[in-house]
Amino acid sequence: MNNAAAILSASGLRKDYDTVTGSLEILRGVNLEVCQGEMLYITGKSGCGKSTLLHLLGGLDRPTDGKLFFRGREMTGMPEREIARIRCRNIGFVFQFYHLLPELTVHENVLLPTLIAKKKDSGWVKEVLKRVKLWNRRTHFPSELSGGEKQRVAIARALANRPDVVLCDEPTGNLDEETAGTITSLLAELNQKEGHTFLIVTHDEEIARTGSRSLTLHEGQLMPASNVFKH
Ligand SMILES: Nc1ncnc2c1ncn2[C@@H]1O[C@H](COP(=O)(O)OP(=O)(O)OP(=O)(O)O)[C@@H](O)[C@H]1O
Ligand SMILES: [Mg+2]
Repeated sequence: MNNAAAILSASGLRKDYDTVTGSLEILRGVNLEVCQGEMLYITGKSGCGKSTLLHLLGGLDRPTDGKLFFRGREMTGMPEREIARIRCRNIGFVFQFYHLLPELTVHENVLLPTLIAKKKDSGWVKEVLKRVKLWNRRTHFPSELSGGEKQRVAIARALANRPDVVLCDEPTGNLDEETAGTITSLLAELNQKEGHTFLIVTHDEEIARTGSRSLTLHEGQLMPASNVFKH
């Protein structure tokens, strides 16, 4: 499988972790294509390998076997420097615990990826901060923000380099139900109105149903969410 129309694709992706008590087979042949404009949700039980999969797709870790493609280019054999370049310019990340830099303001946190990528795009950074409704809080520090506001900064930061796809790992996992709803709506709006592509991991099956597609990771493989309970 090497569909050049897909932004990211995985074929026969395997990941084992070697531990003192032996090898853990976490991913056992994952096939996936993430296409332009998708709002793809991935669910699955705790410990089934969702974060592991996201890390492989984002080039944060290497698979044990199988192939990964970014826009038809095989990532699996690329040197680390080239993977880092794709990770920096083409892929956005949002994590459960925000991972903001506490000593930087909201504005500086969002500008940071553009500085690393050597892109001067302060007009766009202003625009994304407005889209997440935090332009008026731009001089504040993360410690002055609520959880939902911090996550909105993290979403703006993920969009700062106009990535092809944003990978989100439990973006609402640390938020109360109402705030989680606000973040889910914001992501849906960014997808539907602005065309940003998202792959979102969540343990919340109700949230997963709001996407354009929903898959479940079960026994190391991805399958349509509805299939899991037939096994
Ligand atoms: N570096 C590692 N070394 C050994 N085992 C690991 C390592 N990282 C993850 N694991 C194991 O791999 C399995 C999958 O972990 P992962 O974090 O991908 O699960 P998850 O589906 O994201 O879980 P959760 O929903 O709790 O976030 C777990 O059993 C975990 O303990
Ligand atoms: Mg996880």
